[in-house]
Amino acid sequence: MKVGFAGSGNMAAAMARGWAAGEGGPEAMLFSDAGSGRAASLAEELGGEARANLAELGRDSDLVVLAVKPSALRQATEALGGAAPAVVSVVGATPLARLSEALPDTPLVRAMPNLAVEVRRGLICHAPPQNAPDELSHEVLALLGLLGRTVEIEEGLLDAATAVMGCSPAYFALVVEVLADAGAREGLDDELSRELVLEALAGTAQLLEIHHPASLRRAVASPGGSTEAGLEELDRGGATKAFERAVLASMERMRP
Ligand SMILES: NC(=O)c1ccc[n+]([C@@H]2O[C@H](COP(=O)([O-])OP(=O)(O)OC[C@H]3O[C@@H](n4cnc5c(N)ncnc54)[C@H](OP(=O)(O)O)[C@@H]3O)[C@@H](O)[C@H]2O)c1
Repeated sequence: MKVGFAGSGNMAAAMARGWAAGEGGPEAMLFSDAGSGRAASLAEELGGEARANLAELGRDSDLVVLAVKPSALRQATEALGGAAPAVVSVVGATPLARLSEALPDTPLVRAMPNLAVEVRRGLICHAPPQNAPDELSHEVLALLGLLGRTVEIEEGLLDAATAVMGCSPAYFALVVEVLADAGAREGLDDELSRELVLEALAGTAQLLEIHHPASLRRAVASPGGSTEAGLEELDRGGATKAFERAVLASMERMRP
């Protein structure tokens, strides 16, 4: 399958790198942008081709990944016209109804990946495909499945899923950054401090597959111990509530 990226930003680059990093990906990848030159750079990096406009991209692709910001959706879908044989939209906060109004008769999948698709450990939540014959849906979902785990979810819940799996890599990155900086301030070498935090994060992710978060927390924070002191300080600083408010703020931003 030839996959064309309408938009060559962060998400397109992560998906394309993920496909390029292993077996079974698209037979070819094509890229376009709005003039920044990111399409040509990605094409050069990954051995694909850039296309000057979306009509050409659609015509030369079997599947177009629509990866523009919501604000550029109208312009991009107008430029694409009916040229794309099928479209996977990763555009945030953009319902299938709006997509199919802009691209009538085009088989559509609305998906919400997170950036971990770059290392093929992504999560790709998607609504049930629309207008797409079964065989095409299977092919598209199999292709997305190479980038991580696909989870079908009713469309009304995609924004909630986005708030907890699409946005959260940034929250985890923030936690790593803050903890590593704090370790460095206490005298650890910068690089070592970051590595220690990262290993702790990776190990914790694995532990959380077998232990409930609350019981893991209890197992680390023995009464009167140093972790308990840290958790109490986080609580005093409003960290728990701040994470809850972060999810609400993201949901609010996604509302039409
Ligand atoms: N980043 C994430 O973690 C993430 C997660 C889930 C979903 N998403 C969704 O993915 C979409 C893209 O996000 P992003 O972070 O990749 O944004 P981004 O880095 O700003 O990339 C947007 C891309 O769209 C291109 N573009 C804009 N108008 C265009 C047009 N008319 N024709 C062709 N290309 C056009 C831009 O071109 P230029 O390069 O020329 O500016 C740019 O390459 C958004 O809707 C977002 O909600 C992102």
